[in-house]
Amino acid sequence: MKMNKLYEIIRKTYKRMRMASYIIPPRGNFSRILNEIKIQSNKKYTIINARPRKIGIYTSSRCNLSCHMCGYQSKESTGEYKSVRYPDMSFERFKHIMSFFPEACALTLTAEGEPFLNKDIFQMINYAKKDLKLFVDMTSNGICLNNEMADQIISSKLDILNISLDGTCFEEYNSIRGGTEDQFKTLVANVKNLCSKVKSLNSSLEINVTFITTIVNYKQLPKMIDFVISLGVEGVQFQNVLDFETKFMSEHRPIYKSNKEAVSFINSIKKPDKIKRIIWPLVLDLDIIKSEHHINCHYPFTTIGVNTNGDVNLCCLVNTQESYGNIFKDYDVWNNKPFQDIRQTLSKGKMPFKLCKTCPLSME
Ligand SMILES: C[S@@+](CC[C@H](N)C(=O)[O-])C[C@H]1O[C@@H](n2cnc3c(N)ncnc32)[C@H](O)[C@@H]1O
Ligand code: SF4
Ligand code: SF4
Repeated sequence: MKMNKLYEIIRKTYKRMRMASYIIPPRGNFSRILNEIKIQSNKKYTIINARPRKIGIYTSSRCNLSCHMCGYQSKESTGEYKSVRYPDMSFERFKHIMSFFPEACALTLTAEGEPFLNKDIFQMINYAKKDLKLFVDMTSNGICLNNEMADQIISSKLDILNISLDGTCFEEYNSIRGGTEDQFKTLVANVKNLCSKVKSLNSSLEINVTFITTIVNYKQLPKMIDFVISLGVEGVQFQNVLDFETKFMSEHRPIYKSNKEAVSFINSIKKPDKIKRIIWPLVLDLDIIKSEHHINCHYPFTTIGVNTNGDVNLCCLVNTQESYGNIFKDYDVWNNKPFQDIRQTLSKGKMPFKLCKTCPLSME
């Protein structure tokens, strides 16, 4: 585990440095440097005298899957997490929203659905990369990433693309994602094709595939790593399952420190040379979670998510909502009462949401 931990620290530091390079000219500008200095000096304040460093744009609330574990789209999801339906983000709206945040250096083109279903998605990526000079990452279920899209992704100069795989065969995929055999085959073919193009064109795009990891499937981790290598992918991320209170959770619990067998199995896995990056599943400590005094989340101090209507979120897992504020009605929504309240709760080391209990960002 020590090697795994050390590797993770190096990887995280590298990722932060890569993102930070967008603050410094010529890609960044002086307002970004100044903003970053303010962020650092305002750390953990309830009112922040700086603008967000990272923007999450909610591109679409539509999805071509209904994964069992997904709080936003699963048929079994409760109203609390269910995706708030809003129209797809248009390019014009996107530009308008981004004009409120000239100091930001990074962008997540995220979704409570599938971002590549948005017809304007490449206009947004191209504008963010070429005009705004931002560090841009995305997460996709990979089903619609056909050959034409693969070419557009590579020429857009997107920085990071995470593709959610969740299985090495149709049965595993279906048990988590509920997708069909054809969807699984298409996804696998798309990933292989994209990776081979990235290699042959010597593209700087970083591709990672992700697997939800639970007490049910942790023994498949070595097989998952081998599968990822066979696809030509250089990075893999094992995400611990978040508890969106779906039926899925009655069986698929996260891995806790007390599951000694699972922990020692994961610790014994060696990173093969053929894979560049592995993010290991987070082992949760029930004692720390119960004490509710462990949280170290930077999200509401650095990042804001915005949907088409201008409604914002307080953290990446919680839906955008009018009650949290609206960027079109309040330029300083970032320092309104809901934001002050959540920061105050976090500053005391307490968890503002039930979801924090299984959220990896609580440990960053
Ligand atoms: C909400 S999805 C949106 C992007 C895209 N539709 C996809 O599936 O990649 C973003 C990420 O959340 C992950 N996710 C969804 N439900 C989860 C859960 N209960 N626990 C952990 N990760 C989850 C997905 O696997 C995916 O990697
Ligand atoms: S593809 Fe993504 S958004 Fe759609 S149901 Fe699955 S996890 Fe949720
Ligand atoms: S730790 Fe809690 S507040 Fe922070 S991102 Fe996760 S769920 Fe949101």
